[in-house]
Amino acid sequence: MDCYVSCLLGVVTIVVCVRYYVSSKWIRFTEEIDLKGKNVIITGANAGLGLELSIQFAKRNARVYMACRNTKKGALAVEYVRKHLGSSADVICVELDQSSLVSVRRFVDDFKTREKKLDILINNAAVNAIPSSITEDGILLHYATNYFGPFLLTNLLLERLERSEAGGRVVNIGSLSHTGARLDLDYIQPDKARIYIQTMQKGFIKKQEDILLYQNSKLMMLMFTFELARRLGKRGVTSNCVHPGIVATRMLEDDRNLLRKVIVFSLRLFAKSAEEGCQPILHCALSEQLRDVTGKYFGNFEEEKNVHEMALDERSWEKLWEISEDTTGLS
Ligand SMILES: NC(=O)c1ccc[n+]([C@@H]2O[C@H](COP(=O)([O-])OP(=O)(O)OC[C@H]3O[C@@H](n4cnc5c(N)ncnc54)[C@H](OP(=O)(O)O)[C@@H]3O)[C@@H](O)[C@H]2O)c1
Repeated sequence: MDCYVSCLLGVVTIVVCVRYYVSSKWIRFTEEIDLKGKNVIITGANAGLGLELSIQFAKRNARVYMACRNTKKGALAVEYVRKHLGSSADVICVELDQSSLVSVRRFVDDFKTREKKLDILINNAAVNAIPSSITEDGILLHYATNYFGPFLLTNLLLERLERSEAGGRVVNIGSLSHTGARLDLDYIQPDKARIYIQTMQKGFIKKQEDILLYQNSKLMMLMFTFELARRLGKRGVTSNCVHPGIVATRMLEDDRNLLRKVIVFSLRLFAKSAEEGCQPILHCALSEQLRDVTGKYFGNFEEEKNVHEMALDERSWEKLWEISEDTTGLS
């Protein structure tokens, strides 16, 4: 018995020490910025990082458009922010299902009738550990939600971002896990989606491949960030990507089998809270030092060099862009 207690104490001590060491590296965003008169859009704003970001921007006096696919959840999120900050918090819930190209266009039309300019767009919404399916546009759900939706949204909003006096900022939320991507650009178009799902249903693709779809989508987001920056040049809008680290949100839940449960539980022991996870995003979206910085991928307040080799290949960026224009009907 004594031996078990000693082992348990040993494990707890190691976990506490490692947790302390890991968290000592996390940096807080401390620049004092007043966002009065600024418009911010945050997608996936009803939960996790999106909800916390809404609080952070509204706290700094921005008008925050909380883009949520489920307006009931969105209304609760607005209530939650107001409970935190008071009823004068300038937060508005607007419907956006990022996996639907029609919904993205409807959202942009609605925004344009409300506002003449946009200062900050945070492409945050994403899906991860759920089985994929085919959307109404014929696209794999992970690719539609995590990449093609944000691609279209950003492009349709560029004209409003260009009207921001301080310079519009596009901030794409990336993930370190993109380095594990295995992306073939000839297999992301709608006509290939059905083949993928059929192959998966026949059992040729393992269920965990949806993690790979997530990683691929985050790699595409990074390539999009770089290509957008290249195309925008000096048009007064910046495009950057940032990974928040490992954050204890719903995204870090996976109860499909015991192994996954154990992995996720272990990760949670060392994960950031949503408030801590927001800090690198705030840095990317607000820091004065990054006012003219574009086409970068940030980690913990500094440029992240650990990137997938495809994210460095300009020809792949261009190819992805052309496919994305076709797929979203932008061209
Ligand atoms: N948590 C981490 O460790 C971690 C690490 C690296 C990167 N990230 C990135 O951080 C971002 C935020 O993730 P999170 O951790 O906050 O996850 P989360 O708690 O699962 O939140 C995801 C949000 O996206 C929304 N969403 C999903 N599908 C949508 C759609 N079709 N249209 C509109 N909204 C949709 C969800 O809305 P519903 O409530 O309606 O589902 C929810 O509000 C993601 O881009 C993720 O890839 C997270």
